[in-house]
This record gives sequence, C-alpha cells and structure tokens, in this order.
Amino acid sequence: MNDKCINHEYYMRPSDRVLALIRRIFHNNPEFRHDSLKHVARFAPVIPLMGARPDLSKTLNREVTFADGCSPLHFGCPIMLAAGANKTAKRICDFANMGFGGISVGTATRHVREGNTHRPRIGFLENDRAIHNSMGLNNDGVEAVTRRTDAQISAAHRLHMCVGISVAETPGLTDEDEKLKDIVESFSIAYKAADYVEINLSCPNTGENRIDLDMSLVNKIFTAITDYRNSQTIRKAIYAKLSPDMPDNHTATIMDMLVKVGVNGVVVGNTYPTKKLSDLPVHVAYKDLTPLRADGDCGGMSGRPLYENMVKKVKFVREHYPQMSVIACGGIDHGYKIYDLVKLGVDAVQCYSVVAFRWMAAHAMRKELAEALSKDGFKTLAEYDAARSKQ
Ligand SMILES: Cc1cc2nc3c(=O)[nH]c(=O)nc-3n(C[C@H](O)[C@H](O)[C@H](O)COP(=O)(O)O)c2cc1C
Repeated sequence: MNDKCINHEYYMRPSDRVLALIRRIFHNNPEFRHDSLKHVARFAPVIPLMGARPDLSKTLNREVTFADGCSPLHFGCPIMLAAGANKTAKRICDFANMGFGGISVGTATRHVREGNTHRPRIGFLENDRAIHNSMGLNNDGVEAVTRRTDAQISAAHRLHMCVGISVAETPGLTDEDEKLKDIVESFSIAYKAADYVEINLSCPNTGENRIDLDMSLVNKIFTAITDYRNSQTIRKAIYAKLSPDMPDNHTATIMDMLVKVGVNGVVVGNTYPTKKLSDLPVHVAYKDLTPLRADGDCGGMSGRPLYENMVKKVKFVREHYPQMSVIACGGIDHGYKIYDLVKLGVDAVQCYSVVAFRWMAAHAMRKELAEALSKDGFKTLAEYDAARSKQ
C-alpha cells in the first residue's frame, strides 16, 4: 500500500479569518465557543452572506452496503459530523445546513450524565489547529437521544443525511455483569432509531479505565450486542470506534475479535490521549496545556495533528481486514484528504475540530472533494466507485 501521506493545506478565506477573530474574542470562554456550533448550524441559512444551505446535489452521494445483509447506509456526501458535536440529538437537520451528509449523535450512556464538573473542560490550540477536551461523556441518556433521533430521522433522510447513534458503557461500573447489561441495554435502545450504532470503546476522558484495554470484556460486549442484533428482524450495521494510540498488535487483537463476532466496521479513531502528545506532530508541549480535570489530566487531543497517525491506522485496517467497513476520523480538514482516504478504501469520514477552524468546513471540503474527483476525470463519487469496482 502507498506510504505517502499528504497533510493537505487549505488557504485561509476571508470567512476563515472572521472565524479566527471570533475565536480570539471568546478565547476566555472555550466552552461557550464550543457550544455556539449548534447556533451557527441553526441560523446560518438566514444570516446574509453565510451561504449555508443543505446541498442536495447527487455529485457526492454514496451508498455503503454490507455483505451480511445489513441495511445499507445512504450518505448525501461521505462527510459526517463526528460524535460529541451533537451529544443531545436535538436539531439534527441543522447540520445539513453546514454541508454534512451524516452525523453520529451522542455519545449516549444508559442514563443522564453530567460529565466532568471541572471548568474549563475544553481548550483550543490555535497554532496546532487542535482542540483538547475532557467533557467526560456528558449526555442526556440514551432514551432521550433515541427518542429525539426517532422523531427526526425521516427529515434527516430527506436532507440526505445518515444518522448513527454513538453509545458507550457507563463509566465507573465495577461489576462485569452490570457493565454488560448496561451497554447491551444502551445498544438495544439506540438500535430502534439509528441507521447504524457506533460503540465508543475508546473514550479517554472520564477518568475511568478505558474498556478497549480489557479484551475479555470487549469480547463479551460485542458478542452480546451482535447476538441482540442477530435476533432482530431488521439488521443494522454496528461500528466500533477505536482509539488511535493502540499499537498495531493490540489493534489486530481487537479487529480479529470484531470480525469473528460479525461487527461491520470501525471508526478510526477517537481523540488521542494528551499524555502521549509527544507521539504527534504538535507545537505545544504537554506541560503547557491547561488542565481539564480536577486530577490535572488534559484530556484527549483532536484536530490536524491526528491526521498522519490516523492514516497509518486506516492503512493497517484496510490491508489486514478488507472485509471491514472503515470510517476515518482524526484531523480531516481538507477535501483532498478525503479523496486520498476514499482511494485507500474508506467508506466515509467523520470530522469535528475542523468546524472550529474553517468556516462552513463541510461545504468547503465538499467543493475540494468534487474538484479532486474531477481532476481524475470523475463527475461524481458514484462514477469513481463504479470504476473502482471494475478494477
Ligand atoms: C469537545 C469534544 C467532544 C467529543 N466527544 C466525543 C464523544 O462524546 N464521543 C466520541 O466518540 N468522540 C468524541 N469526541 C471525539 C471526536 O468524535 C473525534 O473522534 C475526534 O475529535 C477526532 O476528530 P477531529 O480531529 O476531526 O476532531 C469529541 C471530541 C471533542 C473535540
């Protein structure tokens, strides 16, 4: 597989400079800046010059199918908003205004969680175009998230958006049976409404042990949820969201198990634990980060510095587990990167941090992706997929 990985650079448009100015004005209130995303998504279409409307053209439509008979996923474009950006599942369709062709709502846990009570629990790193956070899985509980998703999913489909629900085990449970019951319940509730369910195996931000380090538990969790799925009349896809800091041998152990139990795909991957920041190409040092938790921890890193490492992980998974669907996530901020990932065989991408650094990022990346396709002689992504399937 080609080892070249280009971290494509984008040009700052005047609108990106306005966004940078807004970040500077609110630099003392990172949580407010973060929360303002939902207001931008909602009001952008009515604000002059913002040019934010759902794009219903067919140029970047993509259908992801599964050999095991799961319902296919339909993306207006394969650019999704990653989990964490809309934890509540309120006003899902607003994110079509921003150009997204899919969204992963949540992460939701079995019951309401306040998350980390320390403030701030999010920090912006301008020079690295990165964000570090330790929100601590704050959410309204899987029942509320599923109810809201159910009420909006038809409207989201009309805007060509695919909607996944991200669920995680409730942090802090100690008894193994209780853990299993908790995650299977969350999964079965989310399953009722979502197009697919994403299991967040890899949240580094709750201060509790990460479950992807406990293989015996991970095995039991995926066996139980795939058994549940197999008992349902409608078969929906299951994705596991992996941590990006695992060595290849650990990734392989998890992947072997996921393939064996019949999980359909992986999201590669989550935030990168800031304690291992020196692994990444960043300007900032760990000691200079603002602590985001009472114990001094600085959470997980997102954004541009994750890209090269994420591409390595994607290549590893594509090479060794070609039967698995891959959604790439980590540092994606340019449509040319998305095209490179599509050429590596990913089905879709998810992004989050880029919306803080590029104005109407998904619309910009759509244009770049369409341009990259056209340079290679393809008018649509479907045309590219058809040509590739003949190879
Ligand atoms: C503030 C914040 C909250 C997040 N919350 C979640 C979450 O609840 N569940 C999850 O799976 N990932 C969560 N993430 C991780 C993102 O979904 C994504 O995996 C990560 O940010 C890497 O993508 P990016 O570089 O495009 O931001 C969060 C990220 C940020 C910045």
